[in-house]
Amino acid sequence: MAKPVRVGIVGCGTVGTGVAQILLTKAEEIKKKTGVKPVLSKIATRDWNKKRFFKVPESLRTTDWREVVQNSDIVVELIGGIDTAKEVVETALKMGKPVVTANKHLLAEFGYEIAKLARENDTAILFEGAVGGGIPLVKVLKETLCSNEVGEIQGILNGTTNYILTKMEKGNLSFKKALLQAQEKGYAESDPTFDIEGIDAAHKIAILAMLAFGGKVDFSQVFVEGITHINVLDIKLGMEMGYKLKLLAIAKKRNNGEVEIRVHPTFIPLSNPLSHVDGVFNGILFKSDYLGQLKLQGAGAGAYPTATAVVQDIIQLAVGLSRCGKVCDITPLGWANHQLKIAKDFYSRYYLRLEVKDKPGVLYKIAQILASKDISIAGVLQQEWILKFLSSHLEVVPLIILTHKAYESKIKAAVEEIEKLPFVESKPVLIRVEEEKY
Ligand SMILES: NC(=O)c1ccc[n+]([C@@H]2O[C@H](COP(=O)([O-])OP(=O)(O)OC[C@H]3O[C@@H](n4cnc5c(N)ncnc54)[C@H](OP(=O)(O)O)[C@@H]3O)[C@@H](O)[C@H]2O)c1
Repeated sequence: MAKPVRVGIVGCGTVGTGVAQILLTKAEEIKKKTGVKPVLSKIATRDWNKKRFFKVPESLRTTDWREVVQNSDIVVELIGGIDTAKEVVETALKMGKPVVTANKHLLAEFGYEIAKLARENDTAILFEGAVGGGIPLVKVLKETLCSNEVGEIQGILNGTTNYILTKMEKGNLSFKKALLQAQEKGYAESDPTFDIEGIDAAHKIAILAMLAFGGKVDFSQVFVEGITHINVLDIKLGMEMGYKLKLLAIAKKRNNGEVEIRVHPTFIPLSNPLSHVDGVFNGILFKSDYLGQLKLQGAGAGAYPTATAVVQDIIQLAVGLSRCGKVCDITPLGWANHQLKIAKDFYSRYYLRLEVKDKPGVLYKIAQILASKDISIAGVLQQEWILKFLSSHLEVVPLIILTHKAYESKIKAAVEEIEKLPFVESKPVLIRVEEEKY
């Protein structure tokens, strides 16, 4: 008869409480299916007087995370952030205990160090809940696509921003109003900075890139732009041209071996399957050599979806420990010993919206600046109905330019010059366009 495996949790917040609830109510069912019973041995949080959505028995409670690590075979870190979380994870791994975490911030910044520590101590760190909540993205990359070469990943990896953009598109709400609604519904934190500035999505795509391309990522080199400057007008204009606006996280391998890792608002054509991922949902597209294109979609966050992913990892570890006395993990070896070369520049199409004085020669001057930076114009849009969206006076007209592919550094330099022209009345709006056919 297999011995129960002791699971200790550090952090009894949204996800920690969900994991405790699943373990306390489903352990027998898991045992029936796998032959192994994961048993909650201890759970730590700072203040047990706070209200939780599930009542953890008093005998399992502590406020000391070290007690949790001491009294468990598997340690689950669910406090978030870097400082204490890193200490918890490192302490457990150094004791040879496997760790499960959903902490994308910690993994994006220190993933390679932690993976190395796990390997040195002949144990494992699993993190399905860290990216895509309940969608098994890490499993797909580590297992399903292990035999394939992944060329590109595109993802809507942050539910809060996807909700905000959907509300702006379908409800004509301003960014501020849509954010307020997301906060009222509990989809956004009171401090939403990590979400709306794209940092959360950047953490996630960095982790996926490490797994897909087998190397460590210097997170400071990931290109990140959030959605705070997005205007409903641009979303509407995009729709008119057959595009949806999404905060897209992209990881691409180039022929020269460099890797692009970037997060920014992006116009994608309606033929891209991600254009139909709306509201709080997450969606991801993997492109690989043998499997081809794989799209996954689902709940990217929340107590139960994320807890389900965490428990999946716990079960994998518990089965290994119980049947073979050790854990079995196939995280790519390169993650801990090879540095990925991140491309400093990238190549994209661009949407450029300007507000200019209505006089002859304006377009000519702008086209001249673009041409001087090797940027060619694919189309120009000037429509009457846009005028009502503009706060400025009547002699100012909107000018929308779509470019062919150009280097980011060159379009940025061009926009800097264009902005200084005397007839340009407001800050230009620049949005990247991912044009690939699907
Ligand atoms: N929420 C989601 O939908 C979601 C989705 C995917 C991944 N994640 C990740 O999962 C992790 C947990 O997120 P969460 O939303 O559950 O966070 P949370 O609700 O803020 O919970 C964090 C918990 O950690 C506890 N804690 C903090 N410092 C501690 C310490 N030194 N010792 C013991 N307990 C401590 C807090 O205790 P007190 O309550 O007692 O103060 C709190 O209960 C994060 O890394 C997050 O990025 C979350």
